[in-house]
Parts: sequence; C-alpha cells; structure tokens
Amino acid sequence: MTDRIPATLIEGDGIGPEIMQATLAVLDALDAPFTWDRQAAGMAGVDAAGDPLPGATIDSIAHTGLALKGPLTTPVGGGFKSINVTLRQRFGLYANLRPTRTVVPGGRFDNVDLVVVRENIEGLYAAMEHYLPCGDDPRGLAYGAGFNSRAECRRIVRFAFEHAVANGRKKVTLVHKANILKILSGIFLEEGRKVAAEYEGRVAVDERIVDACAMQLVIAPQSYDVIVTTNLFGDILSDLAAGLVGGLGMAPGANIGEKAAIFEAVHGSAPDIAGQGIANPLALLMAASLMLAHVGRQDLATRLDSGIDKVIRKDGLRTRDLGGQVNTHELTAALVQAVS
Ligand SMILES: NC(=O)c1ccc[n+]([C@@H]2O[C@H](COP(=O)([O-])OP(=O)(O)OC[C@H]3O[C@@H](n4cnc5c(N)ncnc54)[C@H](O)[C@@H]3O)[C@@H](O)[C@H]2O)c1
Repeated sequence: MTDRIPATLIEGDGIGPEIMQATLAVLDALDAPFTWDRQAAGMAGVDAAGDPLPGATIDSIAHTGLALKGPLTTPVGGGFKSINVTLRQRFGLYANLRPTRTVVPGGRFDNVDLVVVRENIEGLYAAMEHYLPCGDDPRGLAYGAGFNSRAECRRIVRFAFEHAVANGRKKVTLVHKANILKILSGIFLEEGRKVAAEYEGRVAVDERIVDACAMQLVIAPQSYDVIVTTNLFGDILSDLAAGLVGGLGMAPGANIGEKAAIFEAVHGSAPDIAGQGIANPLALLMAASLMLAHVGRQDLATRLDSGIDKVIRKDGLRTRDLGGQVNTHELTAALVQAVS
C-alpha cells in the first residue's frame, strides 16, 4: 500500500471551493497519496475563526510542511495584509517556481516551455514603505526600500540551477537591473555569476537586463529555459509569461522553503465568476502536479500533465477563459476519465 502523505488543504475564497473540488476529484482518480487536513484562510478564515490566517492553519502547515491552497481574497487598500505574503514570510518560502508551457494550441506561441524562479521573500516586496506626513499636500512623499542579501541571492540562484539539473533543463538566465540599481540588483548578479560558475559544463548561463528580457519574452519566448530573478521582476515576468500561453487560468505556482512548500494557482479568487461553475481549474491542477513531483511522485505528475494535455489538445475542451463553453464540472469529468 502507498504511504500516505499528510498535507494541508485550504479551499480559498471566491472560485476556490469550485476549483478545489475539481482538483480533488482528479487527484482521487489518480489515487494521489495525500491525506488532507482541511483548514481555512482568507475571508473563509475570517468567517470561520475571525482571523484571515487562523492559528490552526499555521499549525497545520508547520506540522505537514505541505499545502495545496486555493486563491485568497485580499481587501484592497485597508483591511488585512495579503495572507499569501504572510505565509511566504512565516514559513520562509524563499523560492517561487512558475512553470509556463503551451498547453492550448493555436495561441500566440505553440512551443513555450520555460520556468520562472522568483526570489520570494526579499527585494522590493519587503514592505518597508513610508510616507512623509504632509497629508494630501503636493509635497507629500512616499518612499519605499528593499533589500537583497548575498546569502539569499546565492540560495535562489542555486535553487534555479538545481531545478535545471533535476529537470533536464539546459540554460539558466540571470535577470537583473544592475545597470541602474547597481547595488540592490548588482549583488544578485555578482552572486548569481559565482553560483553559475559551479555548474559550468552542466548548465549554460546567460544574463539579461529585465526590460530587455520582457521584450524578448514577448517576441521569442522559446529562447528561454529557466529564468531566475529577484522578487518584483519575477512577479511581473511570470505573469507576462502566463499571458503567452493562455493567461492566469493556466498558471500554477509553487512556494518552496526548507521546511514547507505551498502549491497554488497564480490567479486570484475571481469574485466576478464565483459560484457560476465556469471557473477553469487547470492552474490549480497543474499546481497539484508540481506538488506530486515535489513529494517524489513524478509518475503521477506525468499522468496528470498528460491527462490535461489530452482533454485540451485532443478532445479540444475549453472553459470560457480559453474561448470555449465547457463548464468546470464537464472539464473535471473529462479529466477524471483521462487520468483513470
Ligand atoms: N494567490 C492568491 O491567493 C491571489 C492571487 C491574485 C489575487 N488574489 C486576490 O483575488 C482577488 C481578486 O483579484 P483580481 O480580480 O485582481 O484577480 P483574479 O485573478 O481573481 O481575476 C482576474 C480575471 O481573471 C479571471 N480568472 C481568474 N482565475 C480564473 C479561472 N481559474 N478561471 C476563469 N477565469 C479566471 C477572473 O474572472 C477575472 O476576470 C483579490 O482579492 C486579490 O487580492 C489572490
């Protein structure tokens, strides 16, 4: 009998419960080895426990070290701080892995297959923002600071190279803005070059300034294999990459640390379509595939990826965000059949 693996399950807000139900149905059909500990977060956490990140949810992730998470609603402006950011910081989830590959044929590009590795806990998202108190006086001044440590730059670049080695990828591109942010981005490039030298002969290295990288991604995404970069650049480039292959409904993400890993769809809770049964569950399913690979079940991850390819490429099924008319339930039923 397969050893069971305890994992935390957070359904999330908005379309979260719908796409999570779809994902669990497909994981069941695959006989995935997870034993779920269901917990709440986001608005669901507020409703259940008066807290967007209840202590029981934190304890569960600390215990299992593994979570599959639906999207969480974050109030704009005031309200509580993004739970996603809090989780990354709380569990030291330093690496954000965002694979992007063409699944839906006939889009802008038929041959995209790249991975963006984003540093997840430092950079300009350290939330060190200030406002000089002039009210709405035109002299009011907002300023923000960020930091990159040498140790973290080394760790994220090493993660990218190790990911390349483990997955048969050939090239890692260090993406930076060291020509302008000579210190903040400069040390990322310096440390990146040192780590890259350790992989000489095994994985090729390349360097790109972030703005040139953005342009080249739109023109010739096939020229990239693994991109590694700092927090803000990685956030933007990984969404750009998702746009090349059908949008956020096709974008999975993994947040990986030394003691825990949280897998999620990149998109949000999509309140505009919540409860209508039309959400695309593929991003969360692809995140589940990353989770299976993470726990050493590449066999099941490959079956899941092949099932997704079959229903999209061969059967031609599409949810509305991909220009089709299939609803979540119909797509799920086809996926269950494809992986069984
Ligand atoms: N990882 C996360 O938990 C996460 C990520 C981004 C945004 N959010 C939160 O989600 C809420 C809504 O944010 P938003 O509207 O800016 O972004 P969103 O990603 O929720 O939605 C943007 C657009 O994409 C569509 N969309 C998104 N996912 C889809 C799917 N699976 N299938 C079909 N269509 C889909 C939506 O209908 C909407 O039109 C906000 O509270 C935001 O803070 C959470």
